[in-house]
Amino acid sequence: MIALGPLDLKSNLFLSPLAGYTNLPFRLVVRELGGLDLATTDLVNARSLLERNPKALKLIETNDQDRPLAVQLFGSVPEEMRDAALMLQERGVSAIDINMGCPVKKVCRVGGGSAMMTELGRTAGLVRTMVNALRIPVTAKMRLGWDEQNLTAPDLASALEDAGIAAVFVHGRTREQGFSGRVNLAGIRDVVRAVRRVPVIGNGDVTTPEAARHMFAETGCAGVSIGRGAFYDPWIFRRTHQLLRTGVVPPEPSFTDRVAVMCRHLDLMVTVFGEKHGCVMFRKVAPWYSKRFGPASEFNKPVVQLASRAQFHELLEKYLRWRAQFCDESGDLSPRYRPGPMSASFMEPSASPPSALRDVIPVPRGPVEVW
Ligand SMILES: Cc1cc2nc3c(=O)[nH]c(=O)nc-3n(C[C@H](O)[C@H](O)[C@H](O)COP(=O)(O)O)c2cc1C
Repeated sequence: MIALGPLDLKSNLFLSPLAGYTNLPFRLVVRELGGLDLATTDLVNARSLLERNPKALKLIETNDQDRPLAVQLFGSVPEEMRDAALMLQERGVSAIDINMGCPVKKVCRVGGGSAMMTELGRTAGLVRTMVNALRIPVTAKMRLGWDEQNLTAPDLASALEDAGIAAVFVHGRTREQGFSGRVNLAGIRDVVRAVRRVPVIGNGDVTTPEAARHMFAETGCAGVSIGRGAFYDPWIFRRTHQLLRTGVVPPEPSFTDRVAVMCRHLDLMVTVFGEKHGCVMFRKVAPWYSKRFGPASEFNKPVVQLASRAQFHELLEKYLRWRAQFCDESGDLSPRYRPGPMSASFMEPSASPPSALRDVIPVPRGPVEVW
């Protein structure tokens, strides 16, 4: 369906890296629901991998069901990036993605992330060093540029194509924009037009199958990558394929299905990270699920103190009893309590204020707020 260099993929929909979230448990949850082929790890520091730093090694933890897998690397020393990529190739990783669009200060300071986008020649050299040493494809993830005056992504994508990159993932915002404002589809289209053969994968604010279809149609991109939208709807990959194939929008997952998947996610977190740590990590994951539950204060309050699997099931039972007051006789949420439909920034009328758009798909609070 789509090829990244030598790697043939069954799906042109991708899971975007979300540091702290796109770990093995979440990737497995989404894969089990279908529609996704290549998934990516959170970004990993190349040097830390070479130093066999335990935290970095945990970030690349995978298993046989988690295939094909790309690892996203960041760093600016070509030899380190190459050697880390070689190590990953030996371990059976299917592709290496280079982070060029991460606006977190820690990453920019060492010359990785968005800083790379302003230094075309150096970045192309880094890619060439990696491509020449590897059998597996190397891809790049970038934003449109540093700011509105410096939309460097088309030039960068073209230079990287010459350097042997196998695909370009582009988030349709600038570094200066952070996560605010609208995703710029024309900007993504310019990147598509700037390359000759390599697939360009569009990204940003895709929260519904219709939004994915719109991004394909407006930009001519070869694939769409979905990050936060996969949290609100882990079925989004399967549902988008259904829409593209049949023209019919599949129904949203039911509340019961959402709860079942959330429980599966916790079980996998406990398996991979151990009960204590898995539960602590799940404190920030569960509220993403509950965004689509309707009234959820009685779920969100106790879940931030989650410490064990048994406690989770207890609080869930309590919540289900509390939530019943908002439901009709058939057990469905009464219409006035149902969460509004999801919509992507680029599907909103252009007169809508950017702040309102931002609320539609929030960036979680905490250190990741500046991503
Ligand atoms: C919590 C969080 C963590 C992220 N971590 C990464 C990362 O590790 N590497 C990266 O290239 N982008 C990262 N991003 C950016 C996403 O991959 C994606 O480009 C962005 O969220 C827009 O897509 P979306 O609207 O589908 O989420 C992160 C975004 C968020 C919200």
